[in-house]
Amino acid sequence: MNVFRRLTRRPSLELDDIQATVLRARPEPYFGTHAILEITDPGGGRELLRRLAPLVPSAAHWDEPRASWLALALSYHGLEALGVPEGTLASFPANFRAGMAARAERLRDTGPNAPANWEFPFGTPHVHVAVTIFADSETAWRNEVAAYERQLHDLAGVRLLSHQDFGATGFNVFGYRDGFSQPVVEGSGAERLPGGGRPVKAGEFVLGYPSETGQALPAPGPDVLGRNGTYVVFRKYHSHVAAFNRFLHDNARTEAERELLAAKLVGRWRSGAPLALAPEADNPALGEDSRQINNFGYRDDPRGLRTPLGSHIRRMNPRDGKLEVLSDVNIRRIIRRSTSYGQPLPATDLRDDRESRGLDFIALGARAIDNVEFLQSEWVNSGNFTGLGKEKDPLISLQDKGAYFTVPGSPPRRIQNIQSFNTLLGGEYFFMPSLSAINWLSR
Ligand code: HEM
Repeated sequence: MNVFRRLTRRPSLELDDIQATVLRARPEPYFGTHAILEITDPGGGRELLRRLAPLVPSAAHWDEPRASWLALALSYHGLEALGVPEGTLASFPANFRAGMAARAERLRDTGPNAPANWEFPFGTPHVHVAVTIFADSETAWRNEVAAYERQLHDLAGVRLLSHQDFGATGFNVFGYRDGFSQPVVEGSGAERLPGGGRPVKAGEFVLGYPSETGQALPAPGPDVLGRNGTYVVFRKYHSHVAAFNRFLHDNARTEAERELLAAKLVGRWRSGAPLALAPEADNPALGEDSRQINNFGYRDDPRGLRTPLGSHIRRMNPRDGKLEVLSDVNIRRIIRRSTSYGQPLPATDLRDDRESRGLDFIALGARAIDNVEFLQSEWVNSGNFTGLGKEKDPLISLQDKGAYFTVPGSPPRRIQNIQSFNTLLGGEYFFMPSLSAINWLSR
């Protein structure tokens, strides 16, 4: 769902140089493919960029429908494999250069989520280029894939390591509508929607513009490489939907109670309607209403009686709620372009069918890497910031034995034996260059 529907002001960002995906919302329904490539020869890598450049549209007209598009990003190893000069490589931030696997401790990616258990090629130095194709129909998707394959079929010096198709109606494999609470990027021309918060400075999402501190964030040099680029965090999860369904059945007697518990875990009903506005019963019309779906805060619910303090969306964006450990929430915002893969499992299915299904979490932003590292360590895998001690995010954390989830109320309910409902299968940090940077890198 594209919640931002109209351009109200003239954009001040250089939209025709920024990749479309930065501002263009995922279509609904959506179809697509993620491909990961290795550059085995620098000349082949540069030729790859030359050939793909015409398929990567800009963010100009991001609010108008488009049947399909392609996004392209490079890992640090990818920039090395292209033969980018040493001084330029050194101008990238340390966590990007280290890569996601090396940052596992900070990300709390331990135990089953540790890099040693990841799928190939994640966590290996072979991951160089990530290409994503988004489309709004199966036909448009197949056409875009065919155009991409035509460009690459005879290309030497580049190897396809993996590809994964994705697609959904706008509801993820757990049955929740997702991907619609996004920051308003100042200067993009997006209208400000009720409750969406004030527009966030463009420099938080695109390199080369003032950030929330007033200064542009450090960008890799030269200017043609850094300006209008951004960072991407990609994390592939396998979702344990049957375990999630069993958890709801074990802790609620009726379907209505189960749906309320499902809403308490996320902070929204599966329809997308927020508990803050629909605390007692689902209101699917709210989930369809792009002007109302984000029209709420938490200031009037300090104890979490409507939206639990520990629910996924209240953790990931505390909005105007009071925090025990202070943080500026406007520098913690990310643009999400996550995609679902595999068939959803109905809420009535309690047995694991061993099918592959889950979510590719994709975060974009000038601070995306720092922010996901912060979110993972402080707001996902700890409860201290909101007075919940050891309690963790009920949806995406790695739960310890004996973990629980608190539903505030009189009396509060502590729901025992919450499990890890998503296991990390791998991930990587990427740099998403501007259109002029793609050309610069291909020379
Ligand atoms: C399998 C993994 C995940 C699932 C199933 C999931 C599911 C959801 C759902 C259903 C929503 C509410 C609708 C929406 O605005 O999209 C949401 C929101 C959100 N999620 Fe996740 N999520 C996952 C992983 C993550 C991760 C890894 C992060 C960050 C580290 C994250 C950050 C957020 C943020 C920032 C929001 C928006 C909160 C708001 O603005 O109110 N999610 N997620």
